[in-house]
Amino acid sequence: MSEPVAFEVEGGVATITVQREKALNALNAETLDGLERAAQRLQRDGELRGAILIGAGEKAFVAGADLKALSQVTSVGPARGLARRGQSVLRQLEQSPVPLIACVNGYALGGGLELALACHMRYASANARVGLPEVGLGLIPGYGGTQRLTRLVGRGRATELIVTGNQLKADEAAAIGLVNRVFESRDALLAGARETLAVVATRGRLAVSLALESIDRGVDADLDAALAVEADLFGVALASDDAREGIGAFLEKRAPNF
Ligand code: CAA
Repeated sequence: MSEPVAFEVEGGVATITVQREKALNALNAETLDGLERAAQRLQRDGELRGAILIGAGEKAFVAGADLKALSQVTSVGPARGLARRGQSVLRQLEQSPVPLIACVNGYALGGGLELALACHMRYASANARVGLPEVGLGLIPGYGGTQRLTRLVGRGRATELIVTGNQLKADEAAAIGLVNRVFESRDALLAGARETLAVVATRGRLAVSLALESIDRGVDADLDAALAVEADLFGVALASDDAREGIGAFLEKRAPNF
Protein backbone atom coordinates (compact mmCIF):
# COMPACT_ATOMS: atom_id res chain seq x y z
CA MET A 1 0.00 0.00 0.00
CA SER A 2 1.39 3.43 -0.87
CA GLU A 3 2.03 6.05 1.77
CA PRO A 4 -0.90 8.45 2.36
CA VAL A 5 1.50 11.33 1.81
CA ALA A 6 4.61 11.07 -0.37
CA PHE A 7 7.71 13.15 0.38
CA GLU A 8 10.26 13.34 -2.44
CA VAL A 9 13.29 15.59 -2.59
CA GLU A 10 14.98 16.75 -5.77
CA GLY A 11 17.45 19.60 -6.09
CA GLY A 12 16.75 20.84 -2.55
CA VAL A 13 12.98 21.06 -3.14
CA ALA A 14 10.55 18.69 -1.40
CA THR A 15 7.42 17.64 -3.23
CA ILE A 16 4.72 16.56 -0.78
CA THR A 17 1.86 14.68 -2.47
CA VAL A 18 -1.42 13.77 -0.80
CA GLN A 19 -2.09 10.33 -2.26
CA ARG A 20 -5.71 9.33 -1.77
CA GLU A 21 -6.84 9.82 -5.31
CA LYS A 22 -9.94 7.57 -5.13
CA ALA A 23 -11.41 9.84 -2.45
CA LEU A 24 -10.15 12.98 -4.23
CA ASN A 25 -7.36 13.17 -1.62
CA ALA A 26 -9.83 13.88 1.21
CA LEU A 27 -8.10 14.24 4.57
CA ASN A 28 -8.60 11.33 6.97
CA ALA A 29 -6.56 10.52 10.09
CA GLU A 30 -3.82 8.77 8.05
CA THR A 31 -3.35 11.65 5.60
CA LEU A 32 -3.21 14.13 8.49
CA ASP A 33 -0.57 11.96 10.18
CA GLY A 34 1.36 11.89 6.89
CA LEU A 35 1.15 15.66 6.55
CA GLU A 36 2.40 16.04 10.12
CA ARG A 37 5.41 13.84 9.33
CA ALA A 38 6.04 15.97 6.23
CA ALA A 39 5.93 19.16 8.34
CA GLN A 40 8.44 17.63 10.76
CA ARG A 41 10.80 16.79 7.88
CA LEU A 42 10.58 20.37 6.62
CA GLN A 43 11.64 21.53 10.10
CA ARG A 44 14.47 19.01 10.37
CA ASP A 45 16.12 18.90 6.95
CA GLY A 46 18.67 21.70 6.83
CA GLU A 47 19.44 21.03 3.14
CA LEU A 48 15.96 21.91 1.85
CA ARG A 49 15.31 25.28 0.18
CA GLY A 50 11.61 25.01 -0.56
CA ALA A 51 8.61 22.72 -0.74
CA ILE A 52 5.58 22.07 -2.91
CA LEU A 53 2.30 20.55 -1.74
CA ILE A 54 0.03 18.94 -4.34
CA GLY A 55 -2.72 16.33 -4.65
CA ALA A 56 -2.32 13.07 -6.57
CA GLY A 57 -4.03 12.97 -9.96
CA GLU A 58 -5.56 15.57 -12.23
CA LYS A 59 -8.85 16.17 -10.50
CA ALA A 60 -8.27 17.36 -6.96
CA PHE A 61 -5.77 19.04 -4.70
CA VAL A 62 -7.79 17.94 -1.64
CA ALA A 63 -11.62 17.69 -1.59
CA GLY A 64 -11.86 18.46 2.12
CA ALA A 65 -11.94 16.62 5.39
CA ASP A 66 -13.09 13.03 4.96
CA LEU A 67 -16.88 13.16 5.15
CA LYS A 68 -17.21 9.46 5.99
CA ALA A 69 -15.02 10.01 9.06
CA LEU A 70 -16.91 13.22 9.99
CA SER A 71 -20.23 11.39 9.78
CA GLN A 72 -19.12 9.13 12.64
CA VAL A 73 -18.63 12.06 15.02
CA THR A 74 -21.82 13.30 16.64
CA SER A 75 -20.88 15.02 19.90
CA VAL A 76 -19.24 18.35 20.60
CA GLY A 77 -16.07 17.22 22.41
CA PRO A 78 -14.78 14.76 19.81
CA ALA A 79 -15.81 17.14 17.00
CA ARG A 80 -13.81 19.92 18.58
CA GLY A 81 -10.87 17.52 18.95
CA LEU A 82 -11.10 16.67 15.26
CA ALA A 83 -10.89 20.35 14.32
CA ARG A 84 -7.98 20.91 16.71
CA ARG A 85 -6.07 17.98 15.20
CA GLY A 86 -6.43 19.37 11.66
CA GLN A 87 -5.57 22.88 12.83
CA SER A 88 -2.45 21.62 14.58
CA VAL A 89 -1.14 19.81 11.49
CA LEU A 90 -1.82 22.80 9.22
CA ARG A 91 -0.16 25.15 11.69
CA GLN A 92 2.97 22.96 11.70
CA LEU A 93 3.09 23.20 7.89
CA GLU A 94 2.57 26.98 8.07
CA GLN A 95 5.62 27.23 10.33
CA SER A 96 7.87 25.55 7.78
CA PRO A 97 11.29 27.28 7.71
CA VAL A 98 11.37 26.97 3.90
CA PRO A 99 8.74 28.47 1.57
CA LEU A 100 5.85 26.09 1.00
CA ILE A 101 3.79 26.53 -2.17
CA ALA A 102 0.36 24.88 -2.47
CA CYS A 103 -0.09 23.72 -6.06
CA VAL A 104 -3.87 23.67 -6.32
CA ASN A 105 -4.36 21.16 -9.14
CA GLY A 106 -8.17 20.86 -9.16
CA TYR A 107 -10.70 20.91 -6.33
CA ALA A 108 -9.56 22.54 -3.08
CA LEU A 109 -12.72 22.49 -1.00
CA GLY A 110 -13.31 22.78 2.73
CA GLY A 111 -10.30 21.36 4.56
CA GLY A 112 -8.51 21.23 1.18
CA LEU A 113 -8.73 24.99 0.73
CA GLU A 114 -7.82 25.39 4.40
CA LEU A 115 -4.71 23.30 3.77
CA ALA A 116 -3.79 25.55 0.82
CA LEU A 117 -4.42 28.63 2.99
CA ALA A 118 -1.90 27.35 5.53
CA CYS A 119 0.80 27.27 2.82
CA HIS A 120 2.91 30.38 2.24
CA MET A 121 1.78 30.79 -1.38
CA ARG A 122 -0.90 29.33 -3.60
CA TYR A 123 -0.46 28.60 -7.30
CA ALA A 124 -3.37 27.06 -9.23
CA SER A 125 -4.00 25.16 -12.44
CA ALA A 126 -6.73 26.50 -14.73
CA ASN A 127 -9.08 23.67 -13.68
CA ALA A 128 -8.84 24.55 -9.98
CA ARG A 129 -12.05 25.13 -8.03
CA VAL A 130 -11.79 26.54 -4.54
CA GLY A 131 -14.41 27.05 -1.87
CA LEU A 132 -15.59 26.44 1.66
CA PRO A 133 -18.79 24.40 1.19
CA GLU A 134 -19.20 23.56 4.89
CA VAL A 135 -22.42 25.52 5.54
CA GLY A 136 -24.12 23.37 2.90
CA LEU A 137 -23.24 20.38 5.07
CA GLY A 138 -24.52 22.01 8.24
CA LEU A 139 -20.94 22.73 9.33
CA ILE A 140 -18.54 25.62 9.50
CA PRO A 141 -14.91 25.47 8.34
CA GLY A 142 -12.88 23.83 11.10
CA TYR A 143 -9.27 23.78 9.88
CA GLY A 144 -8.72 27.54 10.08
CA GLY A 145 -10.83 28.67 7.10
CA THR A 146 -12.84 31.33 8.93
CA GLN A 147 -9.57 32.86 10.14
CA ARG A 148 -6.99 32.50 7.36
CA LEU A 149 -9.36 33.28 4.47
CA THR A 150 -10.53 36.42 6.26
CA ARG A 151 -6.96 37.55 6.84
CA LEU A 152 -5.98 36.82 3.23
CA VAL A 153 -8.86 38.29 1.18
CA GLY A 154 -10.62 40.55 3.71
CA ARG A 155 -13.74 40.13 5.81
CA GLY A 156 -16.35 40.97 3.17
CA ARG A 157 -15.08 38.57 0.52
CA ALA A 158 -14.39 35.81 3.02
CA THR A 159 -17.84 36.15 4.56
CA GLU A 160 -19.49 35.89 1.14
CA LEU A 161 -17.55 32.73 0.28
CA ILE A 162 -18.18 31.13 3.68
CA VAL A 163 -21.91 31.85 4.03
CA THR A 164 -22.74 30.92 0.42
CA GLY A 165 -20.34 27.98 0.13
CA ASN A 166 -19.86 29.05 -3.52
CA GLN A 167 -16.85 27.81 -5.48
CA LEU A 168 -14.48 30.13 -7.34
CA LYS A 169 -12.69 29.27 -10.58
CA ALA A 170 -8.92 29.74 -10.68
CA ASP A 171 -8.99 33.15 -12.37
CA GLU A 172 -11.68 34.40 -9.95
CA ALA A 173 -9.55 33.22 -7.03
CA ALA A 174 -6.53 35.02 -8.51
CA ALA A 175 -8.55 38.24 -8.93
CA ILE A 176 -9.11 38.46 -5.15
CA GLY A 177 -5.58 37.40 -4.21
CA LEU A 178 -6.65 33.98 -2.98
CA VAL A 179 -4.18 32.37 -5.37
CA ASN A 180 -1.02 34.10 -6.55
CA ARG A 181 -0.82 32.72 -10.09
CA VAL A 182 -2.70 30.49 -12.53
CA PHE A 183 -1.12 27.96 -14.93
CA GLU A 184 -2.60 26.07 -17.88
CA SER A 185 -1.81 22.53 -16.75
CA ARG A 186 -0.61 20.46 -13.78
CA ASP A 187 2.88 20.24 -15.33
CA ALA A 188 3.05 24.00 -15.91
CA LEU A 189 1.86 24.54 -12.34
CA LEU A 190 4.64 22.38 -10.90
CA ALA A 191 7.21 23.99 -13.21
CA GLY A 192 6.06 27.47 -12.11
CA ALA A 193 6.38 26.58 -8.43
CA ARG A 194 9.83 25.04 -8.98
CA GLU A 195 10.93 28.15 -10.86
CA THR A 196 9.98 30.37 -7.91
CA LEU A 197 11.74 28.06 -5.45
CA ALA A 198 14.85 28.01 -7.67
CA VAL A 199 15.05 31.79 -7.23
CA VAL A 200 14.59 31.40 -3.46
CA ALA A 201 17.44 28.86 -3.44
CA THR A 202 19.88 31.51 -4.66
CA ARG A 203 19.10 33.71 -1.63
CA GLY A 204 20.38 33.41 1.94
CA ARG A 205 18.75 30.35 3.54
CA LEU A 206 18.73 31.83 7.03
CA ALA A 207 17.40 35.15 5.71
CA VAL A 208 14.52 33.39 3.92
CA SER A 209 13.56 31.47 7.05
CA LEU A 210 13.81 34.61 9.23
CA ALA A 211 11.59 36.49 6.75
CA LEU A 212 8.99 33.70 6.91
CA GLU A 213 9.14 33.78 10.71
CA SER A 214 8.77 37.57 10.78
CA ILE A 215 5.69 37.43 8.53
CA ASP A 216 4.17 34.60 10.56
CA ARG A 217 4.75 36.11 13.98
CA GLY A 218 3.88 39.65 12.90
CA VAL A 219 0.77 39.13 10.81
CA ASP A 220 -1.61 38.85 13.74
CA ALA A 221 0.20 41.14 16.17
CA ASP A 222 -0.41 44.88 16.50
CA LEU A 223 1.97 46.96 14.40
CA ASP A 224 4.29 48.03 17.22
CA ALA A 225 4.70 44.47 18.49
CA ALA A 226 5.15 43.21 14.93
CA LEU A 227 7.84 45.81 14.21
CA ALA A 228 9.66 44.71 17.37
CA VAL A 229 9.60 41.11 16.11
CA GLU A 230 10.99 42.28 12.76
CA ALA A 231 13.79 44.24 14.45
CA ASP A 232 14.76 41.21 16.57
CA LEU A 233 14.94 38.96 13.52
CA PHE A 234 16.74 41.63 11.47
CA GLY A 235 19.33 41.63 14.25
CA VAL A 236 19.83 37.89 13.91
CA ALA A 237 20.11 38.26 10.12
CA LEU A 238 22.62 41.12 10.11
CA ALA A 239 24.84 39.34 12.65
CA SER A 240 24.91 36.15 10.53
CA ASP A 241 27.61 34.72 8.26
CA ASP A 242 25.10 34.92 5.41
CA ALA A 243 24.89 38.69 5.82
CA ARG A 244 28.72 38.92 5.79
CA GLU A 245 28.70 36.98 2.52
CA GLY A 246 25.71 38.79 0.97
CA ILE A 247 26.81 42.33 1.78
CA GLY A 248 30.48 41.47 1.11
CA ALA A 249 29.58 40.14 -2.34
CA PHE A 250 27.70 43.35 -3.15
CA LEU A 251 30.63 45.51 -2.10
CA GLU A 252 33.08 43.33 -4.06
CA LYS A 253 30.77 43.39 -7.11
CA ARG A 254 30.39 39.61 -7.30
CA ALA A 255 27.56 37.13 -6.89
CA PRO A 256 27.00 35.90 -3.31
CA ASN A 257 27.68 32.27 -2.47
CA PHE A 258 25.36 31.32 0.37
N1 CAA B 1 -14.66 12.98 1.91
C1 CAA B 1 -14.73 11.68 1.58
N2 CAA B 1 -14.83 11.22 0.30
C2 CAA B 1 -14.86 12.16 -0.66
C3 CAA B 1 -14.79 13.52 -0.40
C4 CAA B 1 -14.68 13.93 0.96
N3 CAA B 1 -14.58 15.22 1.32
N4 CAA B 1 -14.86 14.20 -1.56
C5 CAA B 1 -14.96 13.26 -2.53
N5 CAA B 1 -14.96 12.03 -1.99
C6 CAA B 1 -15.08 10.75 -2.69
C7 CAA B 1 -16.51 10.49 -3.14
O1 CAA B 1 -17.30 9.96 -2.07
C8 CAA B 1 -16.30 9.51 -4.25
O2 CAA B 1 -16.05 8.25 -3.69
P1 CAA B 1 -16.84 6.92 -4.27
O3 CAA B 1 -16.35 6.81 -5.69
O4 CAA B 1 -16.36 5.83 -3.38
O5 CAA B 1 -18.30 7.24 -4.18
C9 CAA B 1 -14.98 9.97 -4.88
O6 CAA B 1 -14.34 10.79 -3.90
C10 CAA B 1 -15.18 10.83 -6.12
O7 CAA B 1 -16.05 11.90 -5.78
P2 CAA B 1 -17.39 12.26 -6.63
O8 CAA B 1 -17.95 11.04 -7.26
O9 CAA B 1 -18.28 13.05 -5.74
O10 CAA B 1 -16.74 13.18 -7.76
P3 CAA B 1 -17.47 14.36 -8.59
O11 CAA B 1 -16.56 14.71 -9.70
O12 CAA B 1 -18.87 14.01 -8.89
O13 CAA B 1 -17.51 15.60 -7.53
C11 CAA B 1 -16.63 17.06 -5.84
C12 CAA B 1 -16.32 16.17 -7.07
C13 CAA B 1 -17.47 18.29 -6.28
C14 CAA B 1 -15.30 17.53 -5.24
C15 CAA B 1 -17.44 16.23 -4.81
O14 CAA B 1 -16.74 15.01 -4.57
C16 CAA B 1 -17.65 16.89 -3.49
O15 CAA B 1 -18.47 17.80 -3.39
N6 CAA B 1 -16.91 16.48 -2.44
C17 CAA B 1 -17.09 16.96 -1.11
C18 CAA B 1 -16.44 18.34 -0.96
C19 CAA B 1 -16.72 18.91 0.41
O16 CAA B 1 -17.87 19.13 0.80
N7 CAA B 1 -15.66 19.19 1.20
C20 CAA B 1 -15.77 19.74 2.52
C21 CAA B 1 -15.69 18.65 3.55
S1 CAA B 1 -16.08 19.23 5.18
C22 CAA B 1 -14.63 19.93 5.73
O17 CAA B 1 -13.62 19.98 5.03
C23 CAA B 1 -14.72 20.46 7.14
C24 CAA B 1 -13.51 21.21 7.59
O18 CAA B 1 -13.43 22.41 7.47
C25 CAA B 1 -12.45 20.54 8.26
